[in-house]
Amino acid sequence: MKILITGAGGQLGRELINQGQLKGFSVQAPSEDDMDITDLEKIDRCMAFHQPEVVINAAAYTQVDKAESEAALAFAVNTTGSANLARMCAKNKIPLVHISTDYVFDGQKGRSYLETDAISPVGVYGRSKAEGEIEIRSHLKEHIILRTSWLYGIHGHNFAKTMLKLATTKPKIRVVADQYGSPTNAADLAQTILIISDRMQFNNDVDWGTYHYCGQGVISWYNFAEKIVGLARLYADVKTTRIEPITTADYPTRALRPIYSALDCSRIQKHFGINPKPWQKSLEITIKELLVRR
Ligand SMILES: NC(=O)c1ccc[n+]([C@@H]2O[C@H](COP(=O)([O-])OP(=O)(O)OC[C@H]3O[C@@H](n4cnc5c(N)ncnc54)[C@H](OP(=O)(O)O)[C@@H]3O)[C@@H](O)[C@H]2O)c1
Repeated sequence: MKILITGAGGQLGRELINQGQLKGFSVQAPSEDDMDITDLEKIDRCMAFHQPEVVINAAAYTQVDKAESEAALAFAVNTTGSANLARMCAKNKIPLVHISTDYVFDGQKGRSYLETDAISPVGVYGRSKAEGEIEIRSHLKEHIILRTSWLYGIHGHNFAKTMLKLATTKPKIRVVADQYGSPTNAADLAQTILIISDRMQFNNDVDWGTYHYCGQGVISWYNFAEKIVGLARLYADVKTTRIEPITTADYPTRALRPIYSALDCSRIQKHFGINPKPWQKSLEITIKELLVRR
């Protein structure tokens, strides 16, 4: 199968390329220069050239705090870029797998979010992603919008890598303990996306629409940090002796974040038979890979 991946340099994009190639797919991953998703003509040209059978959109503006002062850029990439891809997929009659976020929710529900729950983002990043979803639904029936959360992995910038760096340099780390969600491993997410893409090839009866996929289990950033630092002790000289739980109020950021943004993944289990792994399992593999590879 021929797949075209946007955002090829990002943490998810890099996993998709590696795993797509291992699965024997024909993987096209144009650079941002060749296929800037804010540029409709570039997308048109790239699709005509590569003739993909499915497009996977892993490109995004992902800097949650910076988005507050760069709203135009966030909306250009996350909203207009998504609309552009959906329009070009519709023109070429091919499906689009698009990645979205738990940050489309306000976090006030207090329980895991279903795909059918109303969205109500609290920051610019979340709003730009929410509007991207709306654009995709309006331009293209044959889409899968996959919302995920707290993405980390061996590539790019993410919380797990930041904690590892702090653990090997700082005696004390302060981490927010009153925001809850589900860490999702980028390799697991890539595997899920490729299973769904593969299914599209052989099954004409795909149930298009929005799905949730995240690691199994709900924790705070503080719990996540504790586990990361604990695992790091197995492989590295950890300097951190104390992880201090703090509140969101103790750590003001430019963007507001949802307090509880866990995602209910039963729909993806029911329709695609995909069961998210417990977050601890994937974290153990990733930390080992990150510290043993150094
Ligand atoms: N990271 C998380 O915690 C998280 C949580 C939930 C959902 N998600 C979603 O998961 C998806 C993947 O996230 P990620 O963490 O892999 O993001 P990432 O590491 O920031 O990668 C995004 C990629 O998109 C590229 N990009 C930005 N603007 C572009 C444009 N106009 N045209 C083409 N490419 C462009 C970026 O290039 P540059 O680096 O050169 O800008 C980067 O390579 C995104 O849809 C994100 O919203 C992420």
